[in-house]
Amino acid sequence: MKRSSYCGDVREDSIGKDIVVCGWVHSRRDHGGVIFIDLRDREGLLQIVFQPENKEIFKIAEGLRSEYVVSVKGLVRKRPEGTLNPNMPTGSIELVVSKIEILNTCPGLPFEISDYRETSEELRLKYRYLDLRRPNFQKNFIMRHKVANEIRNFLNDESFLEIETPFLTKSTPEGARDFLVPSRLHHGSFFALPQSPQLFKQILMVSGFDKYYQIARCFRDEDLRADRQLEFTQIDLEMSFVEENDVMDVIERMLSRVFKNVLNIEIKIPFERMSYADALLHYGSDKPDTRFEMEIKDFSAELKESGFSVFSSVISKGGIVRGLCIPKGASFSRSEIDGLTNFVGEYGAKGLAWMKITESGAESNIVKYFKDEKIKVIISKLGAKSGDLIVFLADEEKIVAQGLGALRLKMGKELGLIDKSKFNFLWVVDFPLMEWDKEEQRWQALHHPFTSPQDVVSLNKENAGTAKAKAYDVILNGIELGGGSIRIHRSDVQKKIFDILSISDESAKEKFGFLLDALTYGAPPHGGLALGFDRMCALMAGEDSIREVIAFPKTQKASDPLSNAPAPVSEKQLKELGVRIVVKQAKV
Ligand code: AMO
Ligand code: AMP
Repeated sequence: MKRSSYCGDVREDSIGKDIVVCGWVHSRRDHGGVIFIDLRDREGLLQIVFQPENKEIFKIAEGLRSEYVVSVKGLVRKRPEGTLNPNMPTGSIELVVSKIEILNTCPGLPFEISDYRETSEELRLKYRYLDLRRPNFQKNFIMRHKVANEIRNFLNDESFLEIETPFLTKSTPEGARDFLVPSRLHHGSFFALPQSPQLFKQILMVSGFDKYYQIARCFRDEDLRADRQLEFTQIDLEMSFVEENDVMDVIERMLSRVFKNVLNIEIKIPFERMSYADALLHYGSDKPDTRFEMEIKDFSAELKESGFSVFSSVISKGGIVRGLCIPKGASFSRSEIDGLTNFVGEYGAKGLAWMKITESGAESNIVKYFKDEKIKVIISKLGAKSGDLIVFLADEEKIVAQGLGALRLKMGKELGLIDKSKFNFLWVVDFPLMEWDKEEQRWQALHHPFTSPQDVVSLNKENAGTAKAKAYDVILNGIELGGGSIRIHRSDVQKKIFDILSISDESAKEKFGFLLDALTYGAPPHGGLALGFDRMCALMAGEDSIREVIAFPKTQKASDPLSNAPAPVSEKQLKELGVRIVVKQAKV
């Protein structure tokens, strides 16, 4: 009884042939005299028929239960007229059993193996092996494998070398919290798990490998969300003697090949490019979802001198006013508009001004403050139509952008404006190099401190806020798929940047001295990028969470119910590591 075919792969060309399939009993139906089971393996389902004539086999079939493991031999035949199932790839055939072997039994299940996801996440992850049996999961992981394979093939064809970098290392400046590993041989010292291979891939460029890639596991101790895990996978690459366009071109061609070969979808390259400033202005986000329009517009110039004191006072203090047109929003009730006001309030907005657009013009409690010409300008700039609702936020730029950006996404989803079949890729470029840290009263690198400025010659502490970075993010459907930059490869430039960032020589040496040392020994110009592989697979599989494309993810609360990690360890282990546990006293 050696398997001759996967259940899900049998087709009409096997009709009349004897085959052997193995798998799990997905479902069993007793049709008074004839028993049908759907047998499942990773490729799909196949209908198996047990006829009462063969008494011995029929008896076995009567005893089959969900998730029993069997191997069956039988004759493939066309299903009788009227019993065809066009929704199944094997829906026109069935297997008439001549021999069956029960390889294992299975007790009652904690939840049904079906495509319905009514089970709690905790239970699903505790019994992840059962959860993963679900056909949609098997599809997701087969797809994930194909994507990785296409990426490897593409990068190999482009002469990239796959090189591994260490897991036990020093912390990298990626900005999240590190996972630490105590050292048994060096009590009091710790390894950090890499947040990314960043420093090592740059060192590989110094070593002359020219083009590196790695499908690399990264570790970041951050708060989990639908698109964040503690450990996740990057398609990480780095290239020597390149500029931004070279890296972006490789990524575009790689993504276009992956989408074509895995999903048979043609994506248009080169991708659209948008400056960080435009993304923030028009979409209120550095990762714009361009699958729908509803662009935000700035009205600071037009509304500077209106009689509406909320706007004029914000603008006079250096703030801004921006607006958004919500299609058909004029039908919203007062309480619905109050709901929107509360929503933007979560982003720090102090209110939400609005105007309903009707056949006779604009209507609201603030219309009286604006001249007719101004209102006409607003309506035309936003392309508003009768029946729409225009909303405005006035505040500092960050609050206005975030509030309207989030409101735009919420309305896009709720009003069904997003075409889910689209894959909209886009580059966000011209990122600021640094941002001002109000708390610490100093400049902070927006990416990492090795990101090359676009213009290093004129850069100084005074104009650092306007300096742009040679950095680029690739966005897909409003999600940051990846990011990278051209790095600083010269010590004098690096020193200048550290000075502006107020990073002392000692502190730089302590944190990443080994990279700085390496860069002094003839580092070539270099740059690269890392794609979030889990995010990419989730988007390709049409899943909302990366947990659906990671075999053994952590729960939202950062634990693994399957292995019960994290868990206490023995006194002996702690002693060897020189680690003592401090138990927090509960406050009385
Ligand atoms: P960055 O920190 O932007 O860049 O990470 C690159 C991409 O990795 C994905 N990602 C995550 N995916 C799942 N869970 C997480 N917690 C998580 N964090 C990040 C995102 C992100 O765009 N070394 C640089 C790259 C470079 O400059 O070459 C880096 O790691 O999709
Ligand atoms: P008020 O003058 O306080 O009655 O406010 C009039 C309208 O302006 C209300 O709809 C408020 O929600 C709105 N509003 C108040 N502050 C702001 C702000 N910073 N940005 C936008 N609208 C605001």
